[in-house]
Amino acid sequence: MKIVDSIARLKTILNAERKKSQKIGFVPTMGALHDGHLSLIALAKQTADFVVASVFVNPTQFGPNEDLDAYPRDLDADSHKLKAEGCDLLFAPTTTSMYPPGFETDVRLSVTTQGLCGAHRPGHFDGVTTVVLKLFGIVGPDVAVFGRKDYQQLTVIRRMVEDLCLDIEIIGAPLIRETDGLAMSSRNVYLSKEDRTRALALSRALFSVRENYQSGERQSEVLLAQARDIFKQHNVSPEYLEIRRADNLQTIESIEDIAVMLVAAKVGSTRLIDNIQLGE
Ligand code: PAJ
Repeated sequence: MKIVDSIARLKTILNAERKKSQKIGFVPTMGALHDGHLSLIALAKQTADFVVASVFVNPTQFGPNEDLDAYPRDLDADSHKLKAEGCDLLFAPTTTSMYPPGFETDVRLSVTTQGLCGAHRPGHFDGVTTVVLKLFGIVGPDVAVFGRKDYQQLTVIRRMVEDLCLDIEIIGAPLIRETDGLAMSSRNVYLSKEDRTRALALSRALFSVRENYQSGERQSEVLLAQARDIFKQHNVSPEYLEIRRADNLQTIESIEDIAVMLVAAKVGSTRLIDNIQLGE
């Protein structure tokens, strides 16, 4: 596996691959890789001939009081994991090469970024779309894989790709969980032992709601009240807890098509997100 930090060198390598008619797959990450990230690489390998992963802790998507400085970083461990998964190239740019002096572009979507995480992390999605569009410009992938773990992010990226007529197929990968249900996240390492147990509130609430949905309940308010009870039992108060349409995240009162229940909650000082699809 090649490891590259220069944008110019990356473009040279990928242009040579394209000349050989290799289909380029891309998985953007912020590193501290776990099995959830690695499942994205495996999925990319199924459809692409040459798979690029990026590791870049993007400062513009962190708010002033968020965990940019503390965000876990271990490029050495990440590169070993990516190599073992069969990734062909790791792109790990520096912050100054991504945001050189004079950089002033801001990519902003106005609807899908509202509410949910957008309401609690002002500017977050602007940072995400700006860096992802730049990474798309650098890598020029045929296909890019994003996890359904960050459901709103996936929806925003799909919208951006459609709005800007980018010839990139976006694949939404299944959310990977620990055996007890906790959604895998680079931030789980922050959880104390006690908070790790309380964190199960998120997946337990979502699983319980899905069961009720499968038994026929379709009223959002009933399903939300059920989830709120489980949060209370775990002494966790959600930042938001909502049921939205799965395709465009519009709000709904009762579920007719496919929906998704989305939650964010701070457990101790760690902010966790999770979601579950309701309907097939
Ligand atoms: P990061 O949080 O590192 O996540 C990188 C990718 O891994 C995202 O597409 C995310 O949805 C996916 N992922 C994380 N945990 C997952 C899990 N448990 N199961 C499945 N997929 C999972 O998301 C970002 O980085 C950044 O915002 C980025 C897109 C790289 C832009 O900076």
